[in-house]
Amino acid sequence: MARTLERSSEKPLYEQIYEQIRDDVLSGRLPEGKKLPSKRALAEQLQVSLITVENAYSQLIAEGYVRAAQRSGYYAAYSGEAVEKPKAKPLRLPDSEKKEEQPPSRPAGADIFPFSVWTRLMRSVISEKGTRLLQPVDNGGAYELREAISGYLYRARGFYTPPENIIVGSGTEYLYNLLIQLLGRDKVYGIENPGFPKLAKIYALNNARFEYIPLDNSGMRADELEKRRVDIAHISPAHHFPTGIVMPISRRREILGWAESGDRYIIEDDYDSEFRRSGKPVPTIFGSDDLERVIYINTFSQTIAPSVRISYMCLSDELCGLWRKNLGFYACSVPAFEQYTLARFISEGYFERHINRAKKRFKRVCELTEQLILSCGNVKISEENAGLHFTVRLPENSAEIIAKCAECGIKVTPLSDYYAEGAACEDSLFLVNYAGAVEENLLKAFGKL
Ligand SMILES: Cc1ncc(COP(=O)(O)O)c(C=O)c1O
Repeated sequence: MARTLERSSEKPLYEQIYEQIRDDVLSGRLPEGKKLPSKRALAEQLQVSLITVENAYSQLIAEGYVRAAQRSGYYAAYSGEAVEKPKAKPLRLPDSEKKEEQPPSRPAGADIFPFSVWTRLMRSVISEKGTRLLQPVDNGGAYELREAISGYLYRARGFYTPPENIIVGSGTEYLYNLLIQLLGRDKVYGIENPGFPKLAKIYALNNARFEYIPLDNSGMRADELEKRRVDIAHISPAHHFPTGIVMPISRRREILGWAESGDRYIIEDDYDSEFRRSGKPVPTIFGSDDLERVIYINTFSQTIAPSVRISYMCLSDELCGLWRKNLGFYACSVPAFEQYTLARFISEGYFERHINRAKKRFKRVCELTEQLILSCGNVKISEENAGLHFTVRLPENSAEIIAKCAECGIKVTPLSDYYAEGAACEDSLFLVNYAGAVEENLLKAFGKL
């Protein structure tokens, strides 16, 4: 078998020899047991160095195409049928799955995020930590970050939790998965209806039993939890998504009482609680729980950006012990570098400063959004003073309002999208999410109206 090599090719010579012999073995041109030329002979024939042929033969031996017999030489060692390489098929999506190209949505507060500070902190983390950055952090998260979060929660949310009881993970959706493993798939989870649509998917994919629990004006109904034999209530009392309901103290007490009267838990999802537009932050249920029935969970997806993928949960001593025993083997899913940077961002005061700036900006954007929507006529806003969205009742023909909002980066979606299938929801109710709104576009829109 005469072999030729392409010396001008970018492919190394040893790889070309390896591929030619491999293809001969696969196609049967070099049948099993057939002797190959000696390394020296082949090197001479191809005018290459001995080491080049040695490298090719070692690769062929390692992959099982060739075997070496002591003091005898090299033999083809595979008698496979000729294998035709499958031709790559272009990936075709059915028409129904082809999406119109969407402009990338802008994360809340992206334009006021202090990038220069973040860059400086990253540089100082690299220079100060050096090779220590390459060492794994504790499986619960880097201690510095857990300490910084503990301090922040004390200052901003009014409760103390030791850093050891804080578990860091890449996004709350990741932590929900851990919680199901921690608390058990055999438990019944109660989720808000309407609510965050990913939750039902996550519980279903984990084969965990869950019940949709209806809300009233105070949030999740405690009587329904009892009626549907729920073990774990997953709620967002500071700011319910998507209705914006803030759970009043009476309902908080009722749900805490429900949890305390059995082997039950509450998962308190504090998403978006930071952006309450006025007044004091609503206290957490976790902070008033003496019997260790509440798990607190929050994320930096809204306060910094969804792309940072850093979230955390606070566990009671008992659950923390259980986590260490059963799940403590999982390595922390957030890279150490980002954890150390965020730790400094929080402990040096930049995080709270950023939230305060963002809050002022969102207040302005919210007012402009409300004015824009109200100026469109027969519209009623249900104001809930929390989070980066509100609900509105729109007239029948509201396509123009929705398009105008989209031009300004405001998403308007039917509220029915957030209800479980079959649940009754008025068609005229819509969710207005102004987190990605661009102030200048809003002002321009007023000019156009
Ligand atoms: C109630 C709720 N929790 C959490 C999240 C964010 O989750 P993550 O931390 O995985 O970005 C969202 C995002 O929309 C949400 O609506």
